[in-house]
Amino acid sequence: MNFSNRVHNMDFSPIRKLVPLSKAAEDRGIKVYHLNIGQPDVKTPDTFFQGITNYNEKIVKYSDSQGIDTLIDSFIRSLSDSNIYFEKDEIMITHGGSEAIQFAIMATCDPGDEILSPEPFYSNYNSFAKVSGAKIVPFETKIEDNFHLPKKEEIIAKITDKTKCIMLSNPCNPTGTVYSYEEMRMLGEIAKEYNLFIISDEVYRQFIFDNVPYTSSIHLTDILDRVILVDSISKHYSACGARIGLVASKNKDLMHQILKLCQARLCVSTIEQYAAANLINTMGSYITDVKMAYKKRRDIMYSGLSSIPGVICSKPEGAFYILAKLPVDDSDAFAKWLLTDFSYNNETVMFAPASGFYATLGLGKSEARFSYCTSIEDIENSIVILKKALEEYNK
Ligand SMILES: Cc1ncc(COP(=O)(O)O)c(C=O)c1O
Repeated sequence: MNFSNRVHNMDFSPIRKLVPLSKAAEDRGIKVYHLNIGQPDVKTPDTFFQGITNYNEKIVKYSDSQGIDTLIDSFIRSLSDSNIYFEKDEIMITHGGSEAIQFAIMATCDPGDEILSPEPFYSNYNSFAKVSGAKIVPFETKIEDNFHLPKKEEIIAKITDKTKCIMLSNPCNPTGTVYSYEEMRMLGEIAKEYNLFIISDEVYRQFIFDNVPYTSSIHLTDILDRVILVDSISKHYSACGARIGLVASKNKDLMHQILKLCQARLCVSTIEQYAAANLINTMGSYITDVKMAYKKRRDIMYSGLSSIPGVICSKPEGAFYILAKLPVDDSDAFAKWLLTDFSYNNETVMFAPASGFYATLGLGKSEARFSYCTSIEDIENSIVILKKALEEYNK
């Protein structure tokens, strides 16, 4: 049997592809610290579960394709806390930020079209682009610049008559970089000059540390009709499995087209939408507390990694990831070895090899992405293990 070129062209996620090896290690009785994935260990607020219990319909019906009113209203209110203002017909509820990205690409790109993205980028961008027949065209950001954007000329040099959008996550997964007002302005200028959309993935928007100022793409007021915002409750409220996100744009014509995609998949899970509305409506100090916890973990992860001989990294400004250069030639091989051949006190570490976050072949080969949305104890133990492992690996 033959399968489509579409699936053949896709890669397995660098975040999940080593799971069979970690499962095998766990079957051998080894404890694995999962620093590969952005699955927060923080408790989902009770209000989410109360929202599920309070659902008292007798039928689990389809909801509107756009999403339920109370959830859209909740998002409108919570976005306005970040000075992001949308009207009801400018928002569609999606199955997580993932579906929002997919819809944004499908609504703006035809097969063969190109999407500019600073690399390294969230690895699934490659998959989302490929299933739509589009292609990510990367412009490189470097560890020595804290992964901030290159000069405008370097970005413009990548534009062709096939370029339709710029797509970025801000704060960035995998680097934790928060782009400055000047950087965002520059992207806005490029979008205007070259008639492009900006797909602005802001699913980590609430996790920015050290009072670093935040510029949402939606704050670029002269290009509002070009901005497509992607947001989600997955990371902000530690509700990854709920699969609730949104795609939003001031470009009502674009949203009208995206509605067709929403209608084709009928609706987002109805009960989860009610629960999410209840969650967003009653947040209190939850986000502030979680942000403080992540900042502490970021500091421990950064100083721990920096203390390992040969490891180079810069301090992330947001999200909950750090991208480090390891003293190895091939972080993929090292990641596998950690799971198949190494343990220290019967424990080992799993991370995401960084080459999967680059589109340019050969880049990121010695880099690794570590997630720090796990406990301080786990982070500290992982640093000890990683140090021992690198000593042994490089013997
Ligand atoms: C940058 C970025 N965008 C989007 C997503 C998808 O999130 P969701 O769970 O909302 O689909 C993730 C998940 O890790 C992410 O890191």
